[in-house]
Amino acid sequence: DAGKSGYDHYMLKEIHEQPTAIRKCLRERVSELEGTIMVEELAELECDGPVQFVACGTSYHAALYGAKMIRERGIPAQCFLASEYETDSIPVSEETLVVGVTQSGETADTMSALRAANRAGATTLALTNVVGSSAARECDHVMYIRAGPEIGVAATKTFASQQVALAMLSSVLSGEYSQAFVKQLRDLPDQIQKVLDESNAREIAEEYDGSDAYFFIGRGYNAPVALEGALKMKEISYEHAEGFAAGELKHGPLALVTDQTPVFAVIAGDTNVSKTLGNIKEVEARGAPVVAVTDSPEQVGQYADHVLEVPSAGPLLTPILANIQLQLVSYWVANRMGRSIDKPRNLAKSVTVE
Ligand code: G6P
Repeated sequence: DAGKSGYDHYMLKEIHEQPTAIRKCLRERVSELEGTIMVEELAELECDGPVQFVACGTSYHAALYGAKMIRERGIPAQCFLASEYETDSIPVSEETLVVGVTQSGETADTMSALRAANRAGATTLALTNVVGSSAARECDHVMYIRAGPEIGVAATKTFASQQVALAMLSSVLSGEYSQAFVKQLRDLPDQIQKVLDESNAREIAEEYDGSDAYFFIGRGYNAPVALEGALKMKEISYEHAEGFAAGELKHGPLALVTDQTPVFAVIAGDTNVSKTLGNIKEVEARGAPVVAVTDSPEQVGQYADHVLEVPSAGPLLTPILANIQLQLVSYWVANRMGRSIDKPRNLAKSVTVE
């Protein structure tokens, strides 16, 4: 218990460690004065071709977010579930950069995909938390996310650190930086602290625990956050939870929506607010309670039953803040249900079998 620093669970401690984790991830990599981003480990990395991400679980959601950022900066980038990478016959050439996103650096599926990429002659990069891990040793290059040890099986601070590391990687690969973006990165730890200090996630959990199911929707950079919100909820509460890109709701999941299924709508730094508001109206018409996770409460709040507010950090980084609210909701739902939060049944921190 000594390691929990007074928190009831490692997971809650690690959620609260996120400001520090992000400061460490950024240290000596971003210069606000010059508006530059420089990752020393990547000084030798050259990438002219497409980028392919391989990852599992929470790391896959971070990879989805990273691939979007890299595409937005003009570089073709795709994301693959590591367990499907080899069977999918993905074309790989010597120009391809294959990035394995893996907290532990030991996940068997991710290691197999990275080995296959190396055999095919691709350049490989491990984005990992664990110094000297198998992924770090297997790959041509390694970038550490510097989150510090994570004990809780459910990944929390390492997800935020992966997102920030991927934001930096997208700048390094594209050579696109701006003083404004560097400032947003530097401001992020204080904004995370504000979310942690002011969150009403516990009250939301008290309102909705025991629901039939929990749904999470979001567009663009908020779509991977919706997937991650649902994964966190099912991992630690054992409740039925699903995340969708908001536009997919009407293509099936809407059939599951009732007045007993709260819908968490992530509208954070969103450039498509009106479309996601349309989705909110669709679920409200079916009686579902709506919780908006947003930096635009004045625009969105009137359509929601509750708001989990986050500060604005621009389109790329505000979703990181929204995810922290969802981590807290899952934690407090699981806590109220008396679950084994740090060691959920059937799950392991690192899965070393395929
Ligand atoms: C396990 C963990 C997840 C994690 C996934 C990938 O399933 O329970 O929390 O996201 O492995 O792990 P990695 O270490 O590769 O990021």
